[in-house]
Amino acid sequence: MQFAAKLAEVPLWGKKLITVNNEEVVLINDKGKISACENYCPHQGSPMLAGIVKDGTIACPRHGWHYDLANGACTDHSGYTLKTYRVEVVGDDIMIDI
Ligand code: FES
Repeated sequence: MQFAAKLAEVPLWGKKLITVNNEEVVLINDKGKISACENYCPHQGSPMLAGIVKDGTIACPRHGWHYDLANGACTDHSGYTLKTYRVEVVGDDIMIDI
């Protein structure tokens, strides 16, 4: 697990873009649950930092496809998967498995 950010940097309903190991990762606070996913949509590469988060999914800003933040599965087109990362919150630190 690697340090990603301080918990306070990803406020409720917020997102934060970080770079770890040369990969852009979006940290997401969905009702207090922290998730992490790659920044580029597997469909046509739109930045997921601008995605809309709701009920454990993130919707791509370009075509609106939804991805399950738990496993990255696209709920609209089964052949697509957004890369997600396992997250642990340790004290005030967000750690991700990358
Ligand atoms: S680019 Fe994300 S759904 Fe098309």
